[in-house]
Amino acid sequence: MGLVIVANRAPFRLTPEGLAPAVGGLASALLPVLEARGGVWVAAREEGEKALTLRPRESAIRLVQVTLPQKEWQGFYGGFANRILWPLCHYFLEKVELKRDYFQDYVRANQRFASKVTELLQPEDVVFIQDYHLMLLPKLLRERVPNPIGFFFHIPWPSSGVFRVLPWGKALVEGLLGADLIGFHTSEYAENFLRTAAHYGFPIEGNRVRWGDRWIRVEVHPLGIDTARFRELVRDKRVQEHAQALKHLAGKRLILGVDRLDYTKGILERLLAYERFLRTHPHWRGKVTLFQIATPTRTSVAEYRELKRQVDEVVGRIMGSFLREDWIPLRYFYQAFPPEELVAFYLAADVALITPLRDGMNLVALEYAYTSEEGILILSNLAGAAEYLREALLVNPYDLEGIGAALDQALRTPKGARQERLQALWDRIDGLDVKRWAEGFLHSLAEGR
Ligand code: G6P
Repeated sequence: MGLVIVANRAPFRLTPEGLAPAVGGLASALLPVLEARGGVWVAAREEGEKALTLRPRESAIRLVQVTLPQKEWQGFYGGFANRILWPLCHYFLEKVELKRDYFQDYVRANQRFASKVTELLQPEDVVFIQDYHLMLLPKLLRERVPNPIGFFFHIPWPSSGVFRVLPWGKALVEGLLGADLIGFHTSEYAENFLRTAAHYGFPIEGNRVRWGDRWIRVEVHPLGIDTARFRELVRDKRVQEHAQALKHLAGKRLILGVDRLDYTKGILERLLAYERFLRTHPHWRGKVTLFQIATPTRTSVAEYRELKRQVDEVVGRIMGSFLREDWIPLRYFYQAFPPEELVAFYLAADVALITPLRDGMNLVALEYAYTSEEGILILSNLAGAAEYLREALLVNPYDLEGIGAALDQALRTPKGARQERLQALWDRIDGLDVKRWAEGFLHSLAEGR
């Protein structure tokens, strides 16, 4: 059976040498499966943007793009996805901009996807739809084709009370119920979804939702990382040399944060916690340094530009207050790094501070814990990954004093205890390997039919 993956983003990016696989969890999870089974990846393209054409030698897969007129793209992606669904599902209700026009564009864009997928679908194909951009697509396809449809929601499904803030909540749930199988990263999100569906009047039995004469299954399939690839990177001589150079540059105990510059990631709160930590734990001054990598993202959305301004301000304040001739307290990178460079940062870091205010899963936490040889992971208890990485030091990301206390504890943890925690984390992350995620989900989709 062929596989048709549908996602807002294509799994490739343009480089001077041609197309390269995109950096990120989803591309590394799904490209190998697609290459092995053969199939098509369907993604959006904003009108006017360069079309991505794959030469056969670049990949065995086919890439099909759905072109959205600029205004529609803005309403669909910039509006409904980024100004409504994203903040709502991450519990940032004050940032939600409920505009009907955005929903209209979201409906239109999902319809365009439906037409394109219907056009190219073969009778034996399996459809696997990704994420919150395409919540209406399962139902639109179910009305047109009999093929198996799987849907995966990669961000948190909030509590039903929060979801119901959406005037289109029921339509979105119905949209998903066109699928045969709906996947989430954690049991909390799956339970929240079932409760939301129950609220809208759909009968629930165990992990199944009934709609008319169909039963739709809801399952938990946590996404992991490509463990083999990360093991290779750790062994790479150049990566190790780069890690040594970074350690040398830091000169002190290195604390690391790596995130997209998104308000859900808690970067601002983390910087404020670090500032307070330096104030309340003066003996650590001159002995630690924080490297914060913040990757530019969604810069056309005003909230993200405002966040950047606030982060710049706090970075400046920390530097101004604490910088000494012999000590740089903070290095801030507003840049994107490829995986081999990130792994060098992971290897060099004594502590990773991953404190999103909410996060569907958070693969950086897995990447760090998996590649680090004697570091310690401080992880937000509001990230999906916390449901699995129990041996991390879990913190409440809103509790600035708590973050400082965890930092102090992490920096004092002896090597033996750190390695014990890491050992346990490696086992857990091996169990979450990315191949299992895709295969497990697709297997269940096929079985359930
Ligand atoms: C999250 C979402 C993805 C999204 C990614 C990057 O991880 O779950 O669907 O692709 O962020 O955001 P962007 O808006 O650049 O696609």
